[in-house]
Amino acid sequence: MSWSQEQNAQFEEQGFLFLRGLFSKTEVARLNDVVPQLLNGDEQTDGMHRERERSGAVRQIYLAHRFSSRFQQLVCDSRIAEPVQHLLDAEIYVWHSKINVKDAFEGTVWLWHQDYGYWMWDGVDPSLISVMVFLDKATINNGCLMVAAGSHKWGRLEHYADETTTSYKQWCVDIPTLKDRLQEEMIQPIVGEPGDVLFFDCNLLHGSGHNMSPLPRKTFIVAYNDLNNKPHGVENPRPDWVVSRSFEPIVSR
Ligand code: SIN
Ligand code: MN
Repeated sequence: MSWSQEQNAQFEEQGFLFLRGLFSKTEVARLNDVVPQLLNGDEQTDGMHRERERSGAVRQIYLAHRFSSRFQQLVCDSRIAEPVQHLLDAEIYVWHSKINVKDAFEGTVWLWHQDYGYWMWDGVDPSLISVMVFLDKATINNGCLMVAAGSHKWGRLEHYADETTTSYKQWCVDIPTLKDRLQEEMIQPIVGEPGDVLFFDCNLLHGSGHNMSPLPRKTFIVAYNDLNNKPHGVENPRPDWVVSRSFEPIVSR
């Protein structure tokens, strides 16, 4: 599926594009059917990697696309893979995938960051694009993603490692830099329905708040990389669940 000229221009200008209803309710229900199994699986045997909140609730499940045929099919779906191939003008592979769970009342904040703030350290150029597929309704109350429109044009900002705010070490932009750069008018909360999809540039500043609602806020995020941008050797290579060494080209269908 290819985008219109306006949609491509919007992505270039704002660093993201939000498409409502790209997947039907039935398609999302088929994905959600397997999520409990992925949430409760045994890490030692099923090959997936899980991060947990301090409460013990699962925060993220990595690699669902390798172990669930439904998520495998999703990462090859032409509605999401083709526009990314066009934007990067390249063959692509899956850099990583994750289900961000954000359980009712328990899901915690994602501090303001650019994904390339993390990925630069993996020895790649900023030729990566993420696609967030909404598995649940996302509202202001349940901690929908917030993006800073146009921030991708700043290029990569300095990030530091926050190890105290959540159970999870987060690379994020410090408050003086945010005060200097980020204006309230730039912030767009991406509220939406299951089946909506957000495409975003790896230098787009984004984050999200705590889930204060009885509604969970699950999303599936797949990050694609240009096959010509494989990670170079770095001093401390991160594990394969977050920086995949499986360089199979995506054949979209
Ligand atoms: C992310 O930046 O990967 C996640 C943000 C979110 O799920 O709110
Ligand atoms: Mn991110």
